[in-house]
Amino acid sequence: MNRGQVFNEPVSGHTHDHIDWADRLALLRAADTLDAPAHAAIAARLAAKLPANPTVLDLGCGAGGMSTHFARALAAQNGGTIVLVDATPELLHEAERTVRAAAHPGNGHAALPGGHPAAADAMVEVRAIVADLADQALPDLLPAADLVWASRVVHHLPDQQAAIGALTAIVRPGGVVALAEGGLSFSCLPWDLGLGRPGLEDRLQAAQAEWFVGMREGIDGAVPMPYGWPVALERAGLAEVSSFSALVDHPAPGPDGLADYVHHHLSRLATHGADHLSDEDRATLAALLDPGSPHYLGNRRDLFLLGARTVHHGRRP
Ligand SMILES: C[S@@+](CC[C@H](N)C(=O)[O-])C[C@H]1O[C@@H](n2cnc3c(N)ncnc32)[C@H](O)[C@@H]1O
Repeated sequence: MNRGQVFNEPVSGHTHDHIDWADRLALLRAADTLDAPAHAAIAARLAAKLPANPTVLDLGCGAGGMSTHFARALAAQNGGTIVLVDATPELLHEAERTVRAAAHPGNGHAALPGGHPAAADAMVEVRAIVADLADQALPDLLPAADLVWASRVVHHLPDQQAAIGALTAIVRPGGVVALAEGGLSFSCLPWDLGLGRPGLEDRLQAAQAEWFVGMREGIDGAVPMPYGWPVALERAGLAEVSSFSALVDHPAPGPDGLADYVHHHLSRLATHGADHLSDEDRATLAALLDPGSPHYLGNRRDLFLLGARTVHHGRRP
């Protein structure tokens, strides 16, 4: 892959975790919709720490949901620049389209042919860069930033502490590095589904934890990080290290899009948990995910979504 390539020249994606991220676009989009209230609260809290006309880097931006909130926050504070970065061109395309639309709501996608923003849209500039966040040259490939945001991506990199060090080198003195990592696993199913053995969701989460261990072990050159995220931020030289969490809470029957999200979420857990679940649990999942089954989850009115996103942040002295 050509490093730091600007987005108009697509290159094939490369990550270290053996995950087909492009295949997860629908899941990431659905999650962005349901995460919106939590993301808006997090973006407002982080934007309050920024100087005038800041540069915000969204590393491992996925479908771009969080940066739509950064874009609105910057527009409300007289503008700035958002730089979207991801190793998966398909996701970066979607993120750029979505964030431009949020940054310039009056103008649809708001880009002139050739990818240049229209003159009236100069207030929030949106750029997209393909890059591997494990690249040691990362600080040379990306612009200096006032906020470096990396949500649910550092744990996919071989050396997480080294990656946090690189993120710290990108942020300007006085700027903020913020990682969304950890938090609470999302729950969406009642304990007794009326089919299979009760407690399926607890077993799915245990299977997912096993998958996660295997995912980390499968990364070439993976380096253990046997301490928590705030300690990692301190070791990278950041000061004023602190954490907070935002609740994702959609009680049943939930908003439009909830069943769609739950379908993607359970499909992913079914794939991850295949080797760790009983035949009975696999059959229950298959029935829940089958639109032709009387037990199809899309027919239920008792699905919900409850979880938490945790943000760990620190300031570069
Ligand atoms: C779990 S998704 C998180 C997306 C988004 N930040 C969010 O929180 O919804 C992980 C993202 O990191 C990207 N990614 C994984 N490994 C990467 C790497 N080595 N360099 C750059 N991006 C990477 C994937 O393409 C994907 O978009």
